[in-house]
Amino acid sequence: MRIIKKIDDLKKELFTLMGKKIGLIPTMGYIHEGHLSLIEQSIRENDINVVSIFVNPSQFGPNEDFNAYPRDMERDSKLLEERRVDILFSPDSGEMYPENFSTFVEVEKLSKVLCGRSRPIHFRGVCTVVLKLFNIVKPENVYFGAKDAQQAVIIKRMKEDLNLDISIKVMPIVRDEDGLALSSRNKYLSKEEREAALLMPEALKEANMLINNGLFEANKIREKIVRELKKNKCIKIDYVEIVNLKTLESLDKIDNNNTLVAVAIKLGETRLIDNFILGEI
Ligand code: PAJ
Repeated sequence: MRIIKKIDDLKKELFTLMGKKIGLIPTMGYIHEGHLSLIEQSIRENDINVVSIFVNPSQFGPNEDFNAYPRDMERDSKLLEERRVDILFSPDSGEMYPENFSTFVEVEKLSKVLCGRSRPIHFRGVCTVVLKLFNIVKPENVYFGAKDAQQAVIIKRMKEDLNLDISIKVMPIVRDEDGLALSSRNKYLSKEEREAALLMPEALKEANMLINNGLFEANKIREKIVRELKKNKCIKIDYVEIVNLKTLESLDKIDNNNTLVAVAIKLGETRLIDNFILGEI
């Protein structure tokens, strides 16, 4: 595996691979099985696999965890090497955002709901860095996780709106044995907080069952999830929303083929998200 830190070096390397099918997996590192599932899918579908690790400052708000975000390049590069990733691109902030950087990409509307309410600049930062990575790597296929469903919906919108010739693949959520969706941020949780966090996947599972049994009133499903989450006092609910999977607008009636049921909570300083999807992003 080649570890490349400079954009020009990466472009030169990729130039020698012209004609090969390139898969890109953008990450912020602290690699876990969720990331690895995207990487494995990319390896199945492409000739050359590029993983980026970049803790992107522009997607963190001023009071968020940019500095505390877990980083372990040595462990990450070992994991990626084991999976036979071809190129690890790990630029520093100055490389991605040189002095005078001033262009940002904003997907309107979709970026303002759900996580966008409490993280107003988040998706603008995500779209900007992701579009930069697309332009640098010029991949045929790019892999994202359904864990960050809103992110995937927004990036697909950006692809359509900006006519990007890239195929965006969204892979299912990978969970720990206890049901908690894997996330680099799970590292922040104390034992008690982790236990409390489990209410999130449990509440979603129950909600999914209710829908399977024919309860389609979004309000009732939403209330059920809220009630479950309120069983633990440590949990602060950011939102519980049931929305159309394309427009992210609230639904009254759940549509079996086009619904996102999404939850965000805070446990102490740690913000966690989870969801389930009826249909395909
Ligand atoms: P990060 O949180 O590191 O996630 C990288 C990719 O892994 C994202 O597409 C995310 O949805 C996916 N992922 C994370 N946890 C997952 C899980 N449990 N199951 C399946 N997929 C999972 O998302 C980002 O980084 C950044 O916003 C990024 C897109 C890299 C832009 O900076």
